[in-house]
Amino acid sequence: MTDHLVLFMPSGKRGRFEKGTTVLDAARKLGVYVESVCGGRATCGRCQIEVQEGHFAKHKISSSKESISGVGPNEARYLEKRSLPAGRRLSCAATIEGDLVVDVPQDAVVNAQVVRKDADDRQIARRPAVGLCYVEVEEPDMHKPLGDLDRVKAALQKDWGYERLEADYHLLPQAQKILREGQWAVTAAVHQDEDDETARIIALWPGLKNEAYGIACDIGSTTIAMHLVSLLSGRVAASAGTSNPQIRFGEDLMSRVSYVMMNPEGRDAMTKAVRLEISKLVQQVVDEAGCAREDVLDAVFVANPIMHHLFLGIDPTELGGAPFALAVSGAVKLRADDLRLKLNPGARTYLLPCIAGHVGADAAAVTLSEGPHRQDEMMLIVDVGTNAEIVLGNRSRVVAASSPTGPAFEGAEISGGQRAAPGAIERVRIDRDTLEPRYRVIGADIWSDEPGFLEAIGPTGVTGICGSGIIEVIAEMYLSGIISEDGVIDGALAAKSRRIVGDGRTFSYVLVESEPRLTITQNDVRAIQLAKSALYAGTKLLMEKQGAETVDSIRFAGAFGSFIDPTYAMVLGLIPDCELEKVSAVGNAAGTGARMALLNRDHRREIEETVRRIEKIETALEPKFQEHFVYAMALPNKVDPFPKLAA
Ligand code: FES
Repeated sequence: MTDHLVLFMPSGKRGRFEKGTTVLDAARKLGVYVESVCGGRATCGRCQIEVQEGHFAKHKISSSKESISGVGPNEARYLEKRSLPAGRRLSCAATIEGDLVVDVPQDAVVNAQVVRKDADDRQIARRPAVGLCYVEVEEPDMHKPLGDLDRVKAALQKDWGYERLEADYHLLPQAQKILREGQWAVTAAVHQDEDDETARIIALWPGLKNEAYGIACDIGSTTIAMHLVSLLSGRVAASAGTSNPQIRFGEDLMSRVSYVMMNPEGRDAMTKAVRLEISKLVQQVVDEAGCAREDVLDAVFVANPIMHHLFLGIDPTELGGAPFALAVSGAVKLRADDLRLKLNPGARTYLLPCIAGHVGADAAAVTLSEGPHRQDEMMLIVDVGTNAEIVLGNRSRVVAASSPTGPAFEGAEISGGQRAAPGAIERVRIDRDTLEPRYRVIGADIWSDEPGFLEAIGPTGVTGICGSGIIEVIAEMYLSGIISEDGVIDGALAAKSRRIVGDGRTFSYVLVESEPRLTITQNDVRAIQLAKSALYAGTKLLMEKQGAETVDSIRFAGAFGSFIDPTYAMVLGLIPDCELEKVSAVGNAAGTGARMALLNRDHRREIEETVRRIEKIETALEPKFQEHFVYAMALPNKVDPFPKLAA
C-alpha cells in the first residue's frame, strides 16, 4: 500500500497514511480535533474539511483536489438531503488518495439557525468538555442479559473509544424509553473532565441529535453578559446582557459586602437575585437562537471574587478586608442543578479559578484571552473598574495585583460625572489659545461646534460626562496650560478666559456654559489624579517585581478601555510609556476567555496551571506602593519619563 503525507491546518500536524484511509481517521490518529456526532456515518455533517490546493514547499507537499476521493455513496446520500459549502467535504467519507493539505474549518454550521456575532470574531479551536456521540446499540437479547444502558456504554466504548464511562443518575429511569423511541439508535452527550478518567453520559436523545449549546457568562458587578455558543461549531448563536440586579443592594462591591454583614438574609437575597437574572438571560438567548434550555449542556462563568462567591451562595464577608481570604480559589466544577440553574438536567458548569482575594476569575479569563503567558513580550493588561485589576508578564513569569482606583474613572465622585450613556460627554478638545472647548456626546455623531449639534443631542441635551470624557478633558486642560503638572487649575487664566471661574478658594473650568452648566472642579481633577496614581503605582510595582523598565504592549480590558484614547491615557500617566500602536482595547476579554474555556478543555487546564503560577502582589503591603503613588500624582509623572509620548 502506498503511503501519503497528510498535513492538517491550522494545527500543522502531519503524518503518513495508507491510500484509502478516511481523512477523519487520519485526523484522529494525529490528535487533530474534527467534530463528529454520527461517528463517521456521513449523517451529521459535522466533520467538514477543505482540501487546500497548491505546493507547500515547507512540507514538500503538492496537494490537489485529486488527492482525495471523489464523492462516494455515503457522501452522496448526505448531499441528497443537505448541501455542503463550496470546497467542503465530509472527512468521514473522503479518503486519502495522494499527498494532501487539509484545512479544518472552525465553523461547520449545519443547521440553518441564525448566527450572531456580538462576540469578537476569534476562532477558538474546539475540544469541548461535552461532546455529542451518536451510537447504534445492540437490541436486547435473552442470551446476553446486559442492561440497556450498559449496551449504550458498550457502543460508546466501541465506536468512540471511551474507556471508563458512567451515566448520570437522572438518566436511569429514562434510558429504556429513549432507546426504544430511537429504535436502538441514540445520541449521548458525554462529559469528559480533564482531571477525571471516567467520562459521564449526561444526556440521551433518541436518534441523531445534531446540535448542543453552552453558555459563556461574565457576571460583572454592574452588568451580566451572556453568549450562547454552539458546542459543535463554536459559533455564538445569541448574546444578551442586563444590569446586575444586586445593584439595589449596593452600588459597588464593598457596599454589597457590607449589606451581607448588616443583613442576615443579605447573602441569600443577592444569590437568588443574580441566579434569577442569569436564568432570565438563558431564556432570552435560547429564545433568540430558537432552541430550548434542555439543549444547553455546559456553562462557564467568570466573575470578580465577590460576584463569584455570591453566585455560588458563599458569604463574601472574608473578602471585605485583609487577608481577603477566598472560600475557594481553584476552578469550580458543578452540576447546573447544584446552582439551581434550569438547563439540561445533566448540564455541567465550570467557574474559572480566581487569582487572588481581589483579582478574580474574570481577570483569569482576561489573562486566558490575551495570553501574556504564551508570548515573550512583556504584556500589561489593565481592567479598570472600581478596582483596577492589573496583570503583567510573559512566558517566563506573570504577576498580578489589584489597585484601589475608586469609581472616579466610571464617572462617580466627579461633579458632573455619569456612566457612559447617551447624553454623556465622551470626547473633549480645548483650543490652546482661546481655551474654548469642543466636545462630543454619546449618541450624537457630531462635535459641539458643528451646525446641527443641538438637534443631534435632542431634548435631553448634555446630561454629564463619562469616564473617557473626564480623562480627555483633564488631559486637554493640562496640554492647554489650564492645570499645572501638579494638577492645580491656574486661576490667573480667569483674566484671559471666562471659562476659568472662581470656586471658593480654588478655580473651575466651565466645560458647558448652557444650563445645566457642567464644570470641571479642582476636586474633580484631584479625584482623577488619585485614581490614575493608584493605577500607575500598581503597574509600577508589578514592573519592579518583573525587573521590567518598560512594557512592550498594553491591553485595556472592559468597557472603560474601549472608549478611552490611549494618547490621553498616557498624557495623564495612567499607563506607563509604550508605543501607542501597541496600546489597544480588547473589549469584553473576560467573555472571550469564558468562551475559550467553554469550547476547549485544554484552555481550562491552561488557565488553571497559569493561575497557579501567577504571583499575586498585595499593593497594600508593599511600602514602595506609596512612593510610586506620590510620584504618579503629577501629570504625567514626577519621575518617570514618557519618551514615546513625546515622540
Ligand atoms: Fe458525521 Fe462525518 S462524522 S458526517
